[in-house]
Amino acid sequence: MKTIIEPFKIKMVEPIRLTTPDEREAILRRAHFNPFLIPADDVLIDLLTDSGTSAMSSEQWAGMLRGDESYAGARSWFHFERVLRDLTGMPHILPTHQGRASERILFELVGGAGKVVPANSHFDTTRANVEHSGARAVDLVIREAYEPRNRHPFKGNLDTPRLEALIAEVAAKRIPLCLITVTNNSGGGQPVSLENIRAVRAVCDRHHIPLFLDACRFAENAYLIKQREPGQQNRPVRDIAREMFDLADGATISAKKDGLVNIGGVLLMRDDALAARANNLLILTEGFVTYGGLAGRDLEAMAQGFQEVLDEDYLHYRLRSVAYLGEHLLAAGIPIIEPPGGHAIYVDAGAVCPHLPPEQFPGQALLCTMYRHAGIRAVEIGSVMFGGTDPDTGETIRPPLELVRLAIPRRVYTQSHIDYVIEALGEIYAKRRSIRGLRIVEAPPVLRHFSAKFEEVE
Ligand SMILES: Cc1ncc(COP(=O)(O)O)c(C=O)c1O
Repeated sequence: MKTIIEPFKIKMVEPIRLTTPDEREAILRRAHFNPFLIPADDVLIDLLTDSGTSAMSSEQWAGMLRGDESYAGARSWFHFERVLRDLTGMPHILPTHQGRASERILFELVGGAGKVVPANSHFDTTRANVEHSGARAVDLVIREAYEPRNRHPFKGNLDTPRLEALIAEVAAKRIPLCLITVTNNSGGGQPVSLENIRAVRAVCDRHHIPLFLDACRFAENAYLIKQREPGQQNRPVRDIAREMFDLADGATISAKKDGLVNIGGVLLMRDDALAARANNLLILTEGFVTYGGLAGRDLEAMAQGFQEVLDEDYLHYRLRSVAYLGEHLLAAGIPIIEPPGGHAIYVDAGAVCPHLPPEQFPGQALLCTMYRHAGIRAVEIGSVMFGGTDPDTGETIRPPLELVRLAIPRRVYTQSHIDYVIEALGEIYAKRRSIRGLRIVEAPPVLRHFSAKFEEVE
């Protein structure tokens, strides 16, 4: 059979409120042309993020009811610990309320002034936590990652010669760890190959630098390895994922992605002394070591989610539906970051709207047109999110690409929802010259994309 179906039945539904174009025009204006300010009930298809937006399975909901809410040593904790140990082989497993809580604990311990943390690409909360500690975050992804049309199969790979050069420049003793984000969210959700993780490990070993994974999307990365890396086709995804973890000294995980839950996180490590210090910080701000910042029911949902996510029928459907969206957009002539990655399709809004200069925010303008036309919400990753004025030099900061990210929540939308998105984008593309630019009328000094207000340029 050519048709790949969603490998689940739907038992509980949440209605989508259909809106008219006139209603959406009024809603968009009330939201000052910023989709973050649109109430979710007014959105038809919400592609803002894949984080914390998964639909849970009946087994996860059943686990929620079985959750043991004892303060210390709850049954749910032992279940969660067993599942995570089987999956990762890590001796120290710390539950946290979400990914950035794991990052905060880790970098408070290993970061600090004068330290340098290399990664393929730091996710924005990771970078913020590294920098908050006083350390410097350095992105060393391979150069192919910056070429939207380059179909390199592992555009998330870390550039090992640049890692060697950084070590030679700053000295290994200033590098507390090296990080690999799988898949590389800030770089188009692109996977990292096993060969690359092994190569980074070898460099780290030569210089006695620990290697950590940011493993939010470990299962999607492992499945893309199975699909794309020579010699990996006949291995179970669980084994590939285990090899990824075996190559690392620790990991931070936001369970809101491949944990298939709405809240939760994990911090993993092998080093006993570091784990003892991390547990002390965990107790200080998250909670006792057997629950982190979570309820027992959340631990049960995570334990089940981390097993379900390795079901290869699920992963096949998941990666295929993201690729399906990407392939149909390409067939309609819409430029995207190629090849499609794990959790999202990134539309090259700068190429869709060549008539709009970066100061008129082509990505944000495309977002507004998508909402107006079809009630679809997505996120801009371009001059609104990363642009602005350099506080030291006063110069305008321009990101390399103006992108719109269409992130696909897990198990939430069916193929007809995706077909609707494809049709809407095709219609918008046909009249792209009419997309109007925007100017900022009000913006906070940091993280302006969340709350900035815009108006249309005449
Ligand atoms: C790669 C990556 N790391 C870390 C995080 C932070 O996780 P959380 O939102 O659970 O704090 C995210 C969230 O999107 C992410 O994509």
